Amino acid sequence: MDYYTLSFLFPLVLALAYAIINSYRRNSRLPPGPFPLPIIGNLLHLSDNPHQSLATLAKWYGPLMSLKFGTRTTVVVSSPDIAKDFFQTHDHSFSGRPIPDTVRVVDHDNYSLVWLPAGDQWRRLRKISKEYLFSVQRLDASEHIRQQKVRDLLDYVNQCCASGKVVNMGGIAFTTSLNALSNLMFSLDSAQYDSVSSQEFKDAVSALLEVGGKPNIADFFPILKPFDPQGLKRHSNVCIKKLLAIIDGIVDQRLQARSGSSVHDNVPSKNNDVLDLLLNINQKDESEISRDDITHLFLELFIAGIDTTSSTIEWAMVELIHRPHILEKARLEVTKVMENKKNIIQESDIARLPYLQAVIKETLRLHPPIPFLVPHQAIRDVEIQGYLVPKNAQILCNVWAMGRDPKIWLHPEKFMPERFLEGKTDYKGQSFELIPFGAGRRSCPGINIAHRMLHMMLGSLIREFDWKLEGNMRAQDMDMDEKFGLTLQRKLPLMVIPTKI
Ligand code: HEM
Repeated sequence: MDYYTLSFLFPLVLALAYAIINSYRRNSRLPPGPFPLPIIGNLLHLSDNPHQSLATLAKWYGPLMSLKFGTRTTVVVSSPDIAKDFFQTHDHSFSGRPIPDTVRVVDHDNYSLVWLPAGDQWRRLRKISKEYLFSVQRLDASEHIRQQKVRDLLDYVNQCCASGKVVNMGGIAFTTSLNALSNLMFSLDSAQYDSVSSQEFKDAVSALLEVGGKPNIADFFPILKPFDPQGLKRHSNVCIKKLLAIIDGIVDQRLQARSGSSVHDNVPSKNNDVLDLLLNINQKDESEISRDDITHLFLELFIAGIDTTSSTIEWAMVELIHRPHILEKARLEVTKVMENKKNIIQESDIARLPYLQAVIKETLRLHPPIPFLVPHQAIRDVEIQGYLVPKNAQILCNVWAMGRDPKIWLHPEKFMPERFLEGKTDYKGQSFELIPFGAGRRSCPGINIAHRMLHMMLGSLIREFDWKLEGNMRAQDMDMDEKFGLTLQRKLPLMVIPTKI
């Protein structure tokens, strides 16, 4: 074909594609949204921080918006009322998950509490984890574990004070969250604070979090799945296999110890931890929970529970260091409530710390660790506000945008915990303006552990230490840039110097 024919045909093909897509949008009654280009759709609208670019687009197209990412129809929700329509009124219809290609390795998608469709297998896992891990009764019984892990954290920071060492706030919160969970599950520490010792488990968790956070082109163009163009699936396969092998080894040791044939004398046979409880059920009735269910469930809880908790602590400290008067007010409250107590904060103290609670809420409003929630998927066609949300559409709920919407919050960009002191706004899934843990049947089952860990860690860190920025940097010059990934992190890690109070 010569140049002239090509230059005539090319605009014609583009115009035709434009007309087809436009008529498709008109006829399909999809929510409004930017015009999708042929093949790539609206992918060019996504920046490195897609929660920010979609928040800007929602200002034009409204809080119910549709876009096309490659072949995937995506509906973006950016207001509490519409979120309520999705996750309360039509909760069941939107309870599916679009499974990322990186999860489809070693059969993980068939065991995954996070990614399974909301059918029988998911209900069974959710019920078991609620009963043996997340119930108030189980959490009350395991408080001593979280107390011990927070004590370890404070001991480490004390050592840093003595040696003048700079502390990576996100890093120490990550180690504490990881050890709190791994002690709850199988009575073991899985990481050390210093980076010299071997950190096989911690490194594998971090690597998997990193792979999972990268956008995968194969998710937008399923035709590319067999080629895995970015190598993300191969990498995820390696990380998941490694983590499953470590957890499998721990289960093997425990089984040996339970049968009394252990060569590891230091492994107690009755820990009464989550692993023991799950093995008891497994030995009674394997159809209730299989060995594979157990290893995949542990893997999943580590991935879902650690980074979310540690990034919230890091952002809370960023905001408090940025505004010393708020830090001082929170510290005064904790000190007063803990008067005469040498111990670290008890979980029963949290109810008497309304300002600390408000600080955590305010942190989750401005810095929700999962800014779009975990993506949902429509399992049938649903009409919302007169628009059609088609079956299999991916639903992103932009809680980050909702947290910064001036129609909902006074001075939304300001960190003002006081806004939560009056009224009953909570993050448990009833106040749709603040749903960092989601709402409805797919909401976060770990919310109660997170709630307890966040208050104990933050309260203890501010009660015991004063914090200065590394290199005499002034608090008002602090960087607030974000880095989008599996969780929303601060772009630069918060490096701080503690002094004992
Ligand atoms: C799901 C947030 C801590 C386990 C979720 C979802 C969010 C979330 C937004 C998805 C909700 C939805 O799709 O509608 C958070 C935050 C945390 C946190 C902000 C801490 C600050 C934890 C912890 C655990 C955990 C500590 C467990 C130890 C899970 C699991 C799911 C989940 C298993 C999947 C639930 C399902 O799909 O049925 N979390 N989470 N999370 N979270 Fe959390």
